[in-house]
Amino acid sequence: MPAAHGIAEAAEVLRAGGLVAFPTETVYGLGANALDARAAARIFEAKARPSFDPLITHLADATDLPALVGALPPTVAALAERFWPGPLTLIVDRPAVIPPIVTSGLDTMAVRVPDEASARALIRAAGVPVAAPSANRFGQLSPTRAEHVVRGLGAAVDVVLDGGPTRCGIESTIVDARGPHPVVLRLGALAIEELVAAVGPVTVRQGSSGQPVAPGTLAAHYAPRTPLRVVAGAVPAPADGVRRGFLAFREGPAAGYAAVEVLSPAGDVTEAAARLFDALHRLDAAGVTEILAEPAPDEGVGRAINDRLGRAAATWSPPAP
Ligand code: TXA
Ligand code: MG
Repeated sequence: MPAAHGIAEAAEVLRAGGLVAFPTETVYGLGANALDARAAARIFEAKARPSFDPLITHLADATDLPALVGALPPTVAALAERFWPGPLTLIVDRPAVIPPIVTSGLDTMAVRVPDEASARALIRAAGVPVAAPSANRFGQLSPTRAEHVVRGLGAAVDVVLDGGPTRCGIESTIVDARGPHPVVLRLGALAIEELVAAVGPVTVRQGSSGQPVAPGTLAAHYAPRTPLRVVAGAVPAPADGVRRGFLAFREGPAAGYAAVEVLSPAGDVTEAAARLFDALHRLDAAGVTEILAEPAPDEGVGRAINDRLGRAAATWSPPAP
């Protein structure tokens, strides 16, 4: 956890319109004062993020939400009560104090309370809601360590708070629960099974291209620089001299790979999610020509892992015949 004086200084930077990268339980966020349009504009600039991709506003406490937006629809209130602080982002009406740049002009706002003491201390000390997307350049691998942020964004960030590796390792689940029937806009660290247990059946409606429902769900996203392919399982690499990396779920391949990462020897999807982006960052730095990735079991957070792998693979195009 970052030192208390570091948090106080970072809060001051936020209040002055600067950018602070901070750990959450999911991934590192790139924060700015959500009430300050110029500060929010700096986020888009630093990330080279298209202006149509709205930001998530972060609050220190669940009780800060009704204070910001007024009375909540019943299912929104129930989900906030049940899962905050935690890896769940909820859609609410945008209050007038939040400038439209934060929501990319939408009349709705994405909001969450992170389950990370230093993040909440930072937001509380800043005394303002904090707009924060993941602290990476647009479309690239999400940062789960402070060094990923420094490597990816460098001097574009005023302060990076180092809280060590993030616990969940994968972004929050985004749910629009304003109506009677909750709709999942992005699979994430809160498992669908947990949502369903709390509020009954939900619909998963993720966008894939063009103007998506949640633009983090663009078909090609979360991508390493190295081409990535999703494969059925750990197979020996062909002896063709090509340096390949392998991202295994539970067990490494027999032979033939220049770099191998195993996400969870115990076969646990939660552990695998926590290690996913870190493993991809390492494979991306291993000097391989392509990365083969084995999917996780399609259950719990495994679904979100497979979602991210599919999007990372979407930038890959087959070699010309
Ligand atoms: O775990 C997380 O959610 C992390 C940490 C830092 O909190 N943040 C994160 O932010 O993943 P970002 O910007 O990488 O993804 C935010 C997603 C985007 O896909 C965006 O389109 C969606 O939230 N979003 C934001 N506002 C929205 C809205 N009003 N309606 C639908 N989707 C929205
Ligand atoms: Mg992101």
